[in-house]
Amino acid sequence: MLSVDEMKMRVAKYVADMMSNDQVIGVGSGSTSMIFLRFLAERVRRGELRNVKLVPTSSEVEYYSTILGIENLIVQPWQIDNIDVAVDGADEVDPSKNLIKGGGGALTGEKVIDYSAREFIVIVDETKLVEKLGSKVPVPIEVIPRFWRIVKRRVEEMFGGECSLRILEKGKRGPLVTDNGNYLLDWRIILNDDPEKVEVILKSIPGVVESGIFSRRHVSRVIVCKSDGEIVELK
Ligand code: A5P
Repeated sequence: MLSVDEMKMRVAKYVADMMSNDQVIGVGSGSTSMIFLRFLAERVRRGELRNVKLVPTSSEVEYYSTILGIENLIVQPWQIDNIDVAVDGADEVDPSKNLIKGGGGALTGEKVIDYSAREFIVIVDETKLVEKLGSKVPVPIEVIPRFWRIVKRRVEEMFGGECSLRILEKGKRGPLVTDNGNYLLDWRIILNDDPEKVEVILKSIPGVVESGIFSRRHVSRVIVCKSDGEIVELK
């Protein structure tokens, strides 16, 4: 049986090996995406992958690109016309390929890049597969800081569940501030409704910047590493 970290390594390597020369690649955030970035960097260093450009979904990607010595491959979203493929992790995946993302707080950058790519590939270990979204993790909602309590009330009134402000207990304590200078609500709810419908309604609430519900319509492929090491694609 593989550990979660070993599963992340396998699926990240499998998809890094699928990337080809001359592609503009959107790079997701979180630990699986950082492993993917590391495998990409190795392929570039070995001369196997040429002329790729990497579009970061967060400051995390920019930072690790520097550590990996591939910051010269980074291009900002305003410098390119098209993203060929985006590769990103997820916190939960349901059987229809709807996702929860944003455990690391990068949901808005991820959604903009992932949704605008020609192909959006999700890479996960099998612990991320759930029957219903919300079973294991809350749905993150990025909000304009001064309105967090109004948004919390509105979401709870409309759908039920419970929203809490994401607070950092160590280092710089207090509300987590996203790359965009906003706060995050973590909304505990089991999503029984159609996730796409909930995604659209959440986005219409004033004060909401973005939610961590990524609906299946935007997902091209979900590649999973199982605990026996097998790589499978959700159908
Ligand atoms: C970052 O905000 C998230 O959306 C990540 O993509 C997601 O949390 C998956 O992270 P791991 O790969 O670390 O599990």
